[in-house]
Amino acid sequence: MDGRPFGYDRAMTSASQPVMFNPFSPEFLADPYPQYARLREAGAVVKVPFGGWMVTRYETVDRVLRSSAFRTPRGYREANDPAGPPRFAPDGKLSLHRRLWLLFQSGDSHTRLRKLIMKVFTPRAVRALAPSIEALVGELLAPALERGAMEVIKDLAYPLPATVICELLGVPAADRDLNRTWAAVVAATIDPVCSNAQIAAAEAAMLDWDAYIRELIAARRRNPGEALLDAMLAVEEDDARLTEDEVAANATFLFLAGHETTTNLIGNGLYALLRHPEQLAKLRAEPALVENAIEELLRFDSPVQVASRVALEAMEIEGVAIETEVPILVAIACANHDPRRFERPDDLEVTRADPKPLSFGGGPHFCVGAALARLESKHAFEQLVTRTRNIELAADRVTWRPSFSLRGLVALPITLQT
Ligand code: HEM
Repeated sequence: MDGRPFGYDRAMTSASQPVMFNPFSPEFLADPYPQYARLREAGAVVKVPFGGWMVTRYETVDRVLRSSAFRTPRGYREANDPAGPPRFAPDGKLSLHRRLWLLFQSGDSHTRLRKLIMKVFTPRAVRALAPSIEALVGELLAPALERGAMEVIKDLAYPLPATVICELLGVPAADRDLNRTWAAVVAATIDPVCSNAQIAAAEAAMLDWDAYIRELIAARRRNPGEALLDAMLAVEEDDARLTEDEVAANATFLFLAGHETTTNLIGNGLYALLRHPEQLAKLRAEPALVENAIEELLRFDSPVQVASRVALEAMEIEGVAIETEVPILVAIACANHDPRRFERPDDLEVTRADPKPLSFGGGPHFCVGAALARLESKHAFEQLVTRTRNIELAADRVTWRPSFSLRGLVALPITLQT
C-alpha cells in the first residue's frame, strides 16, 4: 500500500450503520454540502445506504486516490437494486467501450495507454494551445457583449472545451454537437448508480457513437493528420499496441472527459462568483488572481463530486474493514469542504492561499486534462472579468443536471455590461 497505512483515525470512525442520504433528492442536487458535512462528521469512512462505503475526509480521500491498492470499478449499479452486483453486459458496445476506457484500466494496461495519451497532453503541447483558446473565448463572448446577455452554458462553457477537444482529437468541428448528444447520454452511466432507462439509452447511443467513430477512424487512416486520433492509430500500426477497439473507446472517453467537466467548472464557478459578488469584485480588481481563483472555484463546487474504487485485496481504511468488490465512493467534493483541512471551508475566498482541491483526483488516475481545463477556464474567467463592467444572474433559480458524480448546471442566464 502507498504512503501512510490506513487506520490512523480509528476512534473517529463510526462505520457500522449506514448514514442516510439521498444523492438523487432535489435538496441534495441543489446543495449537497450540508449532507456531505453530516457524512464527514459521521466518520472518515461511512457506510452508505445503497451499498458500499463512502470516504469523506480530505486526508483519507487523498490517500485512497493516490494508492495503488484499489482499482476503478467498470460496472454500474442498477437503481432498483443498488446494493446488488455491478451490471456489466458483456456484449453491448457500451460495455466494450467502458472496458477499454483509460479510467477503467489498471496495472500495466493502464500505464501503457496513459503513457500514449500523456504524450499529447504534455504541458508544452497544452501551452501551445493558449493563443487559439484565447481567440476562441473572444469569439464566443463577442455576440454576448454586444447583446448584453448570454446563457453561459450554451454560449461559452460548453462550446469552448467541446471545440478544443474536437480539434485535439481530430473530430470535425461540424460534428461537435452530434458527439455531445451521445456523450451526454453515455455520461449518465458514470454515476455509481443509474436506472435501467439510463443504461438502455446509453447502450443505444453507444451503438451510433461507435459506428460514427469507426467511420472517422477509417477516414483518418486514409488521410492521416496530426491529431490524437492519428497518434493512437500510429501506435496501433507501429507495433500493434493499440487495437482499433482501444482507439475507438478512448476517442469516446476523451471527448466525454474533455468537455463536460470543464463546462461545469466554468458554469459552477461563475455561478459561485455571482452568489458572492464581493469575490467577483476582488477578481475584477485584480485579474492576476485568476489562477488561484480557479483552484478555489474547483474546491468550492467541484465538477467531479465522487470517484469510485474497489479494493484489490481485503483491507482496513481508518479501522474499517473493506472487502474486495465492495464499491467505495471517494467523495472528492465532500473532502474539499473538510474543516480539518480548510479554514471556513464553506466560504468562497478567491485569495485563499494554496487551496489544493482534490478535484482532479490524484495518483495513478490523476486527470490527464487538468492543465487543459485550467487553461480554458483561465481564459474564460479572465475575459469575463476584464471585458465587462458588471455581470448579474438573470434567473430567480437555476436547475442542476440530475447527476451525482458530475455536478453542473442545465443553464446559467446572465446579463452583462461593458
Ligand atoms: C475541470 C475539468 C476537469 C475535472 C474537474 C476533471 C476531473 C477528473 C478526475 C477527478 C479524474 C480522476 C477520476 C478517478 O480517479 O476516478 C479525472 C480523470 C481523467 N480526466 Fe479529467 N477532469 C477535467 C477535465 C478533463 C479534460 C479537459 C480532459 C481531456 C482532455 C480530461 C481527461 C481525463 C482522463 C483521460 C482521465 C482518466 C485518467 C486515468 O484514468 O488515468 N479531464 N478527471
